[in-house]
Amino acid sequence: MPQMEITILGAAPAFLDLMDRVSAVAPLDRPVLVVGERGTGKELIAARLHYLSRRWEEAFIKLNCAALPESLLEAELFGVEPGAFTGAVRRRRGRFELADRGSLFLDEIGTLSPAAQEKLLRIIEYGTFERLGGSETLEVNVRVIGATNVDLPALAEEGRFRADLLDRLAFDVLTVPPLRERGEDIPLLADHFGRGMARELGWPAFPGFSDKALADLAAWRWPGNVRELKNVAERAVYRWPEPGRPIDRVDFDPFDSPWRPRPEPAAERAAAAGAPDGKERAIALPDPPYDFRATMATIEKRLLAEALAAHRHHQRSTAEALGLSYDQLRHAAKKHGLL
Ligand SMILES: Nc1ncnc2c1ncn2[C@@H]1O[C@H](COP(=O)(O)OP(=O)(O)OP(=O)(O)O)[C@@H](O)[C@H]1O
Ligand SMILES: [Mg+2]
Repeated sequence: MPQMEITILGAAPAFLDLMDRVSAVAPLDRPVLVVGERGTGKELIAARLHYLSRRWEEAFIKLNCAALPESLLEAELFGVEPGAFTGAVRRRRGRFELADRGSLFLDEIGTLSPAAQEKLLRIIEYGTFERLGGSETLEVNVRVIGATNVDLPALAEEGRFRADLLDRLAFDVLTVPPLRERGEDIPLLADHFGRGMARELGWPAFPGFSDKALADLAAWRWPGNVRELKNVAERAVYRWPEPGRPIDRVDFDPFDSPWRPRPEPAAERAAAAGAPDGKERAIALPDPPYDFRATMATIEKRLLAEALAAHRHHQRSTAEALGLSYDQLRHAAKKHGLL
């Protein structure tokens, strides 16, 4: 099998350090844990660990532990013998057998049931297990790569994840830095994903992002990390009407719409109650002696707080509603301790 093409881009120091550690640990026949926020690229890193290992010509099998209910998950992992439970009419091999001599990627490993954790512990320790409903002990040689976006040591302390399993899984832990800590990677990845979308749309060339668009991308916090950036960059390209000009507009929230159905925000309800006929609301001015700065600061803070609440603290739409730039809004809200 030819080595699979995996594109992992990044130039930020924290990312390059991680890539070095991936290369160093890949050839070792030990379990590895990949930890990081959602969308940071954990699955890509797991694939890289496999393809840089001596197992690269063997199977790379994946399973998301959170995707199946407990009983089905065990059947999926360890296989079943006929009659193990209603509906199990044929022998089925589990993912561990399929991954024999290769690697098994267990995504969201923190969700494994206690029973599955116990079996996993034994496989990692001795390489042995039984299929569900079977008595024959089977042996496999599998490198386990786990991934999670939860704090496994904390789960272990609460008794929700076996500490002895964690010790064995965490021979080494690769923590993927969130995108917001990898400033250099944002334009790099945006360009990569944007280019791909331009190609898909049949544009003769990719015009790139304007400085303003790049500044917007750099200022965003990226809670969904690289997956979110991929969506944002691709959406910006296909929504852009002028393929010949650099893309100048990025929309971060695909739900953003004046017609978005929303629960009525408390501030608007209160405002409506105070001004039933929709008349302009009066601002109570203080009595003399006047203090211009203090009065304006109070009004500014009230307005910001109300607008933020009305936009459910979505900073970009609040800024737009107030006629401020994103940076101006953040600056003002921070000044008043609202962020
Ligand atoms: N460094 C990178 N270079 C190129 N593409 C990347 C990079 N990191 C992530 N991606 C892309 O971002 C998307 C999300 O990556 P991936 O599925 O590996 O993240 P994850 O950490 O497993 O996410 P989740 O926690 O939601 O499962 C994928 O489309 C992946 O190809
Ligand atoms: Mg994943």
